[in-house]
Amino acid sequence: MESGMLSRTQQALIRESWRRVSGSPVQHGVVLFSRLFDLDPDLLPLFQYNCKRFASPQECLAAPEFLDHIRKVMLVIDAAVSHLEDLPCLEEYLCNLGKKHQAVGVKVESFSTVGESLLYMLEKCLGAAFSPDVREAWIELYSAVVKAMQRGWEVLPEGD
Ligand code: HEM
Repeated sequence: MESGMLSRTQQALIRESWRRVSGSPVQHGVVLFSRLFDLDPDLLPLFQYNCKRFASPQECLAAPEFLDHIRKVMLVIDAAVSHLEDLPCLEEYLCNLGKKHQAVGVKVESFSTVGESLLYMLEKCLGAAFSPDVREAWIELYSAVVKAMQRGWEVLPEGD
């Protein structure tokens, strides 16, 4: 994860826009994941709690365990926004998080669809304030987070 890749202006745009989202993380996380399941319904079976599969995205989006996952996702984004000036300090955590997702069957390519869904959610929440500059800043931040998580897929099982 490169240090100083986000300009001061981009950092400010991210902090300002995240303030509008982070006040109600679950509500916005539901928008993100509803979009994700619309774009790729095959991700639904990856969420199983007590070996039980959800029959529909609606059922999944209402389950307490899944709402906990939404909280976890929003906390990771929150951590990234809180460390914009020192993203490398999250590198090891994110690499391990990538490994955990590999273990539950997530394909690294699916993180592009998550990125699209994140931008969709930000646009819905911010409306006209979601300017091209804000969008670009978020793309840069999300790419840095995914790049660090991707390393979890690159680590050989023997290296664990
Ligand atoms: C393709 C999209 C994703 C799928 C299918 C997925 C799936 C899962 C599953 C099945 C678990 C384990 C069960 C659970 O804790 O609910 C999990 C855990 C977790 N996920 Fe995801 N996830 C996705 C995206 C993300 C993203 C984008 C983030 C954050 C940037 C994230 C953060 C977490 C965290 C923090 C945990 C808990 C890890 C731990 O136990 O230490 N997930 N995810």
